[in-house]
Amino acid sequence: MNRVKPYLQVALDATDLITALGSVRDIADDVDVIEIGTVLAFADGMGAVGALRRRYPNHILVCDMKLLDAGETLAHMAFSAGADWITVGAAAHIETVRSAQRVAEQFGGEVQIELFGHWTIEDAKLWVESGVTQAIYHRSRDAQAAGVGWSEQDLMLMKQLSDTGLELSITGGIVPEDIHLFKDIRAKSFIAGRALANHNGKAIAREFREQINHYW
Ligand code: 5RP
Ligand code: MG
Repeated sequence: MNRVKPYLQVALDATDLITALGSVRDIADDVDVIEIGTVLAFADGMGAVGALRRRYPNHILVCDMKLLDAGETLAHMAFSAGADWITVGAAAHIETVRSAQRVAEQFGGEVQIELFGHWTIEDAKLWVESGVTQAIYHRSRDAQAAGVGWSEQDLMLMKQLSDTGLELSITGGIVPEDIHLFKDIRAKSFIAGRALANHNGKAIAREFREQINHYW
């Protein structure tokens, strides 16, 4: 198995840019990837992408826009504002995926497919054929709040997705104690929002890093 060390990614899901900048300031050195979360992208749009790009020119920057239509226009907006990666929802039409992917290639960026709702391994193969290299395995906030945990079926699906060639990031209420569950998965990034974007974020980032270093 390929044991490339997974990245640690902070998701900034604040409802305003000032709060998001405050959350990332202390932990920027402890993370590899900074995400303009869906909540922040709705609140502040591409202005938030540009502001974070200017402050953090060397981090990988993701716009978690969960794009579902108008692939070319929306992808162009995010990449030209400074995103390296953007997210496209699994429910998007394959032509939307292809349009977003074409723009990503023009900018030297990448598309990540957000695996929400219904999707199949056949869909995953189509995404790969379209040039997409990454996907995000996502336990939804609402599912987590309803007590849904990580199951054997999740792990099996993650392995099947890896087998299609997609690099997989994992998210959804993740805490450092969860990392061991994914030790046999070829993970690209572990994405944490609420666990990292708070007053205790620096200590939690170090716990994540210890766990990642222990298993990879
Ligand atoms: C929600 C998201 C969040 O950014 C992602 O789930 C990480 O946040 P948290 O760790 O708080 O769940 O994309 O749709
Ligand atoms: Mg997110």
